[in-house]
Amino acid sequence: MPESLSFIPIPLETLIEESSPDFDIYLQQGSGEKGVVLYREANLFLSHNQLVRLKHNGIDTVFIRGADRGKRLRYMAGQLRQVMERQNIPTSRKTDIIYGLSKGVVENVMEDPRIENVEICKEVAVQHVAFIISDELAFQNFFKIMSYDYYTHTHSVNVCIFVTALIKALRLCDEQTMKVLGMGALLHDIGKSRIDKAILNKRGRLTPEEFEEIKKHPELGVKIVQDSSPLPAAGANIILNHHEKCDGSGYPRGLNADGIDVYSKITCIVDIFDALTTTRCYKGALPGFSALEIMQNEMRDQVNQALLKELIVLIGKVSRP
Ligand SMILES: [Fe+2]
Repeated sequence: MPESLSFIPIPLETLIEESSPDFDIYLQQGSGEKGVVLYREANLFLSHNQLVRLKHNGIDTVFIRGADRGKRLRYMAGQLRQVMERQNIPTSRKTDIIYGLSKGVVENVMEDPRIENVEICKEVAVQHVAFIISDELAFQNFFKIMSYDYYTHTHSVNVCIFVTALIKALRLCDEQTMKVLGMGALLHDIGKSRIDKAILNKRGRLTPEEFEEIKKHPELGVKIVQDSSPLPAAGANIILNHHEKCDGSGYPRGLNADGIDVYSKITCIVDIFDALTTTRCYKGALPGFSALEIMQNEMRDQVNQALLKELIVLIGKVSRP
């Protein structure tokens, strides 16, 4: 159903049990807009059992009115905070909820990078960092459920998780700085919201001109964030530098190893790893060990090998049976 119509689809997983969404929820029961029927009025309590029943009936998408889009985003961010604080929700369920919500808010900011959408992403990133810091099982659970289909929004969430977990393992900075870095990692590709979708989604090889367009996304991303809801330098640098390579072959500035901060080097490694191990319309996903092997050999001079080893250790810990 196109978004120009009055309803927009949202994944069922982004509704939170034991909450009262302040927008009407609809189900698609026939074809077209006429087939959309009211399921729950705004402000009615949504129980765990009701959500389970919908899932059991094969429903994975519900609909809201287009005009309620902003309300839905605020509801998601608000609920996320509350979910994190609930003691009675197991880590695995929290992981599912946060991962689902994060995909939703990043998808939204990629479609419409206005200030309130950027700020909701920043809030979600803060919750990711707090969760990964406080719960030893969080990263392991994320690793199990990560999407292997490449979309900019799933990739962004995966990168935020890996970057946060790696910085935590390396004890590189305090919690406040980690939250800023998490924001930068979640928003690292936001500049792609300004790149022609025909180029972003092209199946074949890019022409040199098209690649020049793609290369603009780090600077466009920094501009979007700094013009709307500015990030401290550590986070903004991740957006700007995540395609810089240690041998100077990266973009946008062609910095060499000495000119790239450690957090951007980490994000670059994670960005490549996630891109290699996920499926796109024109390529299959590589197994994790093959991706790491390529990064250790063919990309030896491009990525920091000491940091890559830390990623290997991190993945090794959660991959063991
Ligand atoms: Fe990127």
